[in-house]
Amino acid sequence: TDPAIIRNFCIIAHIDHGKSTLADRMLQATGVVQPREMKAQYLDRMDIERERGITIKSQAVRMPWEVDGQAYALNMIDTPGHVDFTYEVSRSLAACEGAILLVDAAQGIEAQTLANLYMAMENDLTIIPVLNKIDLPAAQPDKYAEELASLIGGEPEDVLRVSGKTGEGVEALLDQIVRELPRPVGEANAPARAMIFDSVYDSYRGVVTYVRVVDGKLEPRERIQMMSTLASHELLEIGVSSPEPTPTKGLGVGEVGYLITGVKDVRQSKVGDTVTNLKKPAEQQLAGYEEPKPMVFSGLYPIDGSDYPTLRDALDKLQLNDAALVYEPETSVALGFGFRVGFLGLLHLEIIRERLEREFGLDLISTAPNVIYEVMTEDKQIVQVTNPSEFPEGKILEVREPMVSATILAPSEYVGAIMELCQNRRGQMGGMDYLSEDRVEMRYRLPLAEIVFDFFDQLKSRTRGYASLDWKADGEQVADLVKVDVLLQGDQVDAFSAITHKDKAYSYGVMMTQKLRELIPRQQFEVPIQAAIGSRIIARENIRAIRKDVLAKCYGGDISRKRKLIEKQKEGKKRMKTVGRVEVPQEAFIAALSST
Ligand code: GTP
Repeated sequence: TDPAIIRNFCIIAHIDHGKSTLADRMLQATGVVQPREMKAQYLDRMDIERERGITIKSQAVRMPWEVDGQAYALNMIDTPGHVDFTYEVSRSLAACEGAILLVDAAQGIEAQTLANLYMAMENDLTIIPVLNKIDLPAAQPDKYAEELASLIGGEPEDVLRVSGKTGEGVEALLDQIVRELPRPVGEANAPARAMIFDSVYDSYRGVVTYVRVVDGKLEPRERIQMMSTLASHELLEIGVSSPEPTPTKGLGVGEVGYLITGVKDVRQSKVGDTVTNLKKPAEQQLAGYEEPKPMVFSGLYPIDGSDYPTLRDALDKLQLNDAALVYEPETSVALGFGFRVGFLGLLHLEIIRERLEREFGLDLISTAPNVIYEVMTEDKQIVQVTNPSEFPEGKILEVREPMVSATILAPSEYVGAIMELCQNRRGQMGGMDYLSEDRVEMRYRLPLAEIVFDFFDQLKSRTRGYASLDWKADGEQVADLVKVDVLLQGDQVDAFSAITHKDKAYSYGVMMTQKLRELIPRQQFEVPIQAAIGSRIIARENIRAIRKDVLAKCYGGDISRKRKLIEKQKEGKKRMKTVGRVEVPQEAFIAALSST
């Protein structure tokens, strides 16, 4: 295809501003999906996705569109929506020349609107601002057109207005894409270079890799090479999605499509990598390859120890489709055999955990998530700590923690409440701008550990749901961090160890000891529960011993009731974990770990 008639674009928006709905309308308007098929087809796909646990949704769809009698090929590239997957978003953007910046006409600009816009600008994309949901009675298109125009420059009249629900304005938008976005440029005769912006495992076809060709041409049956790993594969199939996968005779400059090589593991076909010809390789990779970096770690343990092999197989399977998932076996005195698993963020953790439980029928305990720390010991060794119980003993010179820069958008009346929250979380303010009279953008640098867990919930509750948040990794800082241990009858329970800021260690200790006192049943003997930093005890609770035998209570009562009691005790025993001499019900671990 001649690059002059190609337009590559993506839709960027804050969550729920209507990206998918608009994409569906475009598929209809361009005739790629027939109106009648629309619903059935997409629902079918969702079912398959659920049943097989794979994503087969088109990651990039090619749509024909005619303007002034000339036929064009529009490639719409899908971007993942959540902050955990920012790197993948940035790769999708790098595959386009333009972006539709979609804003809900009843909501206005939100934090991810800005974050995505900045990312699109860093990739030098041409931006088409669009207000969506103009059919809503609460829409204020005039107000927000002005906000958008002042944000990106330009006139409010130039902001397009559409409704993904009714389809109004969608055809005008498609015309605008053809007219305003630049054609792709590249060297047709140079060695091939194509960027991988997505890579999906399909149980029938193996890994399907989505690429954007920058230079040269890729053809079926030739051997290709991945430039970051130098692995080579045969191209079994190459084609475009429209939206069904349609094989072609190759992909040239500016084209977007998919490759199939028969590899079975997405780690061999990584987002951000450059594909070239093995025989005539390019000299330089395209910019931007980055290993996905886990930010949050948690221990995952099967509640039933005999499920351990199933858990290992399940993780192996999920990794085929998730290059960012990392794990290694670990053992816990309290929880037995499990894995320490690294995630991109909490959403990623929740998704993986839910898939393990739903698709593989596992019952899991996950330990309180933590970030990764760098600890410099007395002999100047640097230790990476992903599990608090592995925090080095002895004298420590320095502890570093990961930082993020966060952007918060909110109505200006909440500035005070937001500042207070950020200060509590050890944030440093970077700046503040008024987007309009009543809307403010605040920038903070915060420790990742302080925002990754409940920060967003806190922010929402302090602003009646009006604030939005976006953040990205921003280096490290040295901080006054300590490890707090929890001891039952003098024995340390590794699963409850946590690394916290010194000022918060005491409240963590008090909270954990109190919670455990409520959760652990009384035993034959007294059980002290302590929290400690090193050998220094910072909090203590006591579980008093049981005085009477349970059976004594119903002495003289009928025998079947006694039997029931004994059965019940046995039942209870099964689900106990013994820590030292203390029997701790499984539920106590789950409850104690779930709400920290
Ligand atoms: P994904 O992140 O890809 O799921 O898309 P999204 O969150 O950007 O938005 P989605 O398309 O799922 O739409 C969010 C909600 O807004 C849905 O309930 C849609 O039905 C609704 N919606 C989308 N477009 C319109 C519109 O033009 N008018 C009205 N009234 N509702 C809309």
